[in-house]
Amino acid sequence: MVANPETKTKKRLHLTVNRIQLNGTIIKASFPKIDELQARGRAQEAFHAQAEGVARERFGNEVFVRGVVEVSNYCRENCHYCGMRRDNRDLTRYRAQVDQLAELLVHHCPSSVRELDIQAGEDPVVVRRVVLPLIRILREETSLGITLCLGSLSWDLYRQLREAGAETYILKFEIGDPELYAEMESPGTHRERIEHIEHLASEGWNVSSGFIVGLPGENERKMMANFELAQELPLAGCSVSPFVPGETTPLARAPMGNIDLTLNSMAALRVMRPDWLIPCVSALNIVEPDGGYERGLRAGANLVTINLTPSEVRGEYLLYKRDRFLMTEETILKSLGRAGLKPAEQSVAEALSGSWSGSC
Ligand code: 5AD
Repeated sequence: MVANPETKTKKRLHLTVNRIQLNGTIIKASFPKIDELQARGRAQEAFHAQAEGVARERFGNEVFVRGVVEVSNYCRENCHYCGMRRDNRDLTRYRAQVDQLAELLVHHCPSSVRELDIQAGEDPVVVRRVVLPLIRILREETSLGITLCLGSLSWDLYRQLREAGAETYILKFEIGDPELYAEMESPGTHRERIEHIEHLASEGWNVSSGFIVGLPGENERKMMANFELAQELPLAGCSVSPFVPGETTPLARAPMGNIDLTLNSMAALRVMRPDWLIPCVSALNIVEPDGGYERGLRAGANLVTINLTPSEVRGEYLLYKRDRFLMTEETILKSLGRAGLKPAEQSVAEALSGSWSGSC
């Protein structure tokens, strides 16, 4: 259990440098400073180059390639920022079929993909009916690593998913500040979300988390709380998503998250945790259509995602807007090439089990 996050926050504000263990070696890791997060121009370029250097030192020029399938857009949660929230009546809800997904993933998975991310709104029904049988098929028929992003579930469901053969669970804490978390009606309570992350890690999952940058109501203190919480949790990775106002959400008219703050946050996470998985999220291209994504690749990211959701249902998996920028293998490989990067040959699970044999 993490102690009361608010008490810890006060203590940790003074902490700028700590030491972490990386494959048995103690390394120095820096906690982000406010001027790094606000950097622009030359200072920002230097900060991103530092983060990129840290990532290259640890992972060489290889980046994990994950294929994502969005298997259900039913959601029992009601997060103000998310288009899949249960109060959104404008959305046609769907659940994908096991056979359709198995055919797609076993026989038509792009060759660069070594890891699958099975993702859904918080929908325990799809977990039982579709995700569990699908994991068992994938385990029998492929050597792909399996990541899940299915929201907060029961301890029993987590156990069944792990036993079926999934290794990595993405549970975003969304917002580091407990008050803003409650205001945004993020899943359950802040404390429960933390407990779930800790529980998953204690049950042998590789846990990745994530937070949103630029939500209405965020201030400097609340922004720093994201890093404080990320640092406390037993994580193997953390994503940073810029806030994108969703058309059919209560925040439709709020301003978009700032691209520079988002990229600086990614760079700061990389410098803080050289060994973490830090994804380059496609929303970077919504916030900065001309090059946001590639700037992410140069700010310390080491994981990219290709969307494999069957095209008939893609438009209904709505986080923010219908014109969601979709990444295909072709666009991803081009972006990687331009950034001097290439797909890793290992899955995330292989790399995290300590057998990383990348080119560094
Ligand atoms: N802006 C940014 N990220 C969002 N997410 C949902 N809605 C938004 C939004 N409007 C992220 C949340 C959630 C995941 C499904 O997508 O982190 O956990």
